[in-house]
Amino acid sequence: MEPLKQLYLSLSEIFNLEDRKGGKQAADALIDASHQIKEPKTFTNPFLDEVESSLNIQGHFLNSLVSKASPNIKWTSSDLREGRIPDDLANQMPMAELVGPDGIFFNDTVRVGLWLQNKNIVYGPRQHAAEETFFIFNGEASWTTESNESKVQGPNTYIYHPSSVLHTSITTNSFVFTAWRWSGDIGFEKYSLHTR
Ligand SMILES: [Fe+2]
Repeated sequence: MEPLKQLYLSLSEIFNLEDRKGGKQAADALIDASHQIKEPKTFTNPFLDEVESSLNIQGHFLNSLVSKASPNIKWTSSDLREGRIPDDLANQMPMAELVGPDGIFFNDTVRVGLWLQNKNIVYGPRQHAAEETFFIFNGEASWTTESNESKVQGPNTYIYHPSSVLHTSITTNSFVFTAWRWSGDIGFEKYSLHTR
């Protein structure tokens, strides 16, 4: 099977296991998209070195899947939001939208992707109307919201943010590599970053 297809199917299982309605929507969108994967396009990755060096092939199985599928993944900076994240920050956070309005495969109800936050980055507080779940497959970060104390979370963890909650992720000695999904109101115009 194409590694890209394998990646989409594995991510669909992961978001199904999240056991939330939004997770199920993400899982269904990934399965729909996987049916369209025959001979996937290849893309040049401006973040190739940092993506590869942030994967642990001996770790969670998503690491090797992402590595194998990477040539068929369109990696960008986190600033798909047209200037809402400063460039120097956005370029420290490579992302890919696998499914969604801006995704490798189109879907207008959810966004699902991959996202890497490099070491020594404070990202937030930020908020958006979409509800969001991250699944960490390598590295760790300290996660906090307006209603929760900060907590360091590593591989095999789901981080859930309800709609419009202020949230922050802080990396120090390690990067954090995640799969993410947005459900609900997924427009980028409802995103804001509050710098301190
Ligand atoms: Fe978020």
